[in-house]
Amino acid sequence: MNVMITGGAGFIGSHLVRLFVNKYPDSRIINVDKLTYAGNLANLSDIEDRPNYTFVKADICDYDEMLRIMKEHDIDGVIHLAAESHVDRSILDPFTFARTNVMGTLSLLQAAKVCWESKPEGYEGKLFYHISTDEVYGALELTDPEGVESPFATTASSSEHHLAFGTEFFLESTKYNPHSPYSASKASSDHFVRAYHDTYGMPTLVTNCSNNYGPYQFPEKLIPLFINNIRHGKPLPVYGKGENVRDWLFVEDHARAIDLIFHKGKPGDTYNIGGFNEWKNIDLIKVIIKTVDRLLGNPEGASEHLITFVTDRKGHDMRYAIDSRKLQRELGWEPSLQFEEGIEKTVRWYLDNQEWMDRITSGDYRDYYEKMYAGR
Ligand code: NAD
Ligand code: DAU
Repeated sequence: MNVMITGGAGFIGSHLVRLFVNKYPDSRIINVDKLTYAGNLANLSDIEDRPNYTFVKADICDYDEMLRIMKEHDIDGVIHLAAESHVDRSILDPFTFARTNVMGTLSLLQAAKVCWESKPEGYEGKLFYHISTDEVYGALELTDPEGVESPFATTASSSEHHLAFGTEFFLESTKYNPHSPYSASKASSDHFVRAYHDTYGMPTLVTNCSNNYGPYQFPEKLIPLFINNIRHGKPLPVYGKGENVRDWLFVEDHARAIDLIFHKGKPGDTYNIGGFNEWKNIDLIKVIIKTVDRLLGNPEGASEHLITFVTDRKGHDMRYAIDSRKLQRELGWEPSLQFEEGIEKTVRWYLDNQEWMDRITSGDYRDYYEKMYAGR
């Protein structure tokens, strides 16, 4: 197969590209990425010379270019991750989110439609797989602020606690109710994908995943930002009271789920992906502090004084909690890493890859494309 992965130079995309390039040597993997501030080709330096891998620098909003790439590489499947992904940025600059997430997705869909409808086999053997988020479902209430035993703990849940902070979970049938400009733009793109399925018969899939953590995440997001700040003795800005709850999944387990769904999912369907691993931000932050201090050889709790409560994020969603039992039941997906193991691996990775981090914080990573790819 010829598979086009958009946003492959970002956090989740780079893990997915690596998985596909390694696992499917007979497939061709075309990574299409504009290299915005969030795109970093250094995330893929270990596989960039593989014969089954091609990088194309392009903007998904450029319809003509998307059509050209799809035709040139005879694309059979699209896995679409390219997006503006940071909620705080969406609050400051919603237009960029509407442009990339809505218009970009529409331009890709239309390019896929025109390309595939021009083939004798039409949509046979083709798939447009759109990666979405649990944030489109809105926010759940904290009905159990101290947390109760989770009814559905999985292998990704923490061994320390199996807590659920409410009785409700997002199901595939939960009505969309996005609150931030980011989640509104993702919801809109999900609707377009389903519209192409229902109107034109395009084989599509949508998955909605919870918060990912792991190596190569851009350090504007909570976990890498805080690991780096602890290392440098800088304040840890906790929004509000730190009581918001997120459900955390190790990024490689998300990539494995995408692989499974891409190959075995039912076209037209939706799957939720999550680990039943809920954490209050403040408790998660304490785990991170403890892990970083231990690995740096600092006394326990040495960095707790860095916690700084700051003004809350506008419209800050209180709780996300994904019910992923459909994916477990229908396709047999199981997360591979328990939370403590995943956090240990993640913190170690950031501490061992300080150069990767420094090149981002200094802005140097943006030269990578020029040095490695320009003129090739
Ligand atoms: P990211 O911000 O790390 O990476 C996004 C990538 O998309 C970057 O490489 C960027 O250069 C590229 N991109 C942005 N605009 C583009 C454009 N116009 N044309 C081409 N490329 C463009 O994002 P991420 O955290 O890896 O998220 C990937 C996808 O997964 C997103 O669609 C996001 O909504 C979704 N998602 C993320 C999470 C999470 O926890 N990070 C959870 C669920 C779903
Ligand atoms: O739920 C899936 C979503 O998870 C994805 O769709 C998004 O792309 C991804 O960015 C993530 O969104 P969040 O807003 O949950 O992630 P973030 O890392 O920005 O924040 C996690 C929580 O920590 C959130 O409740 C806000 C809080 N926070 C975040 C930052 C950056 C802080 O308290 N301080 C901070 O400095």
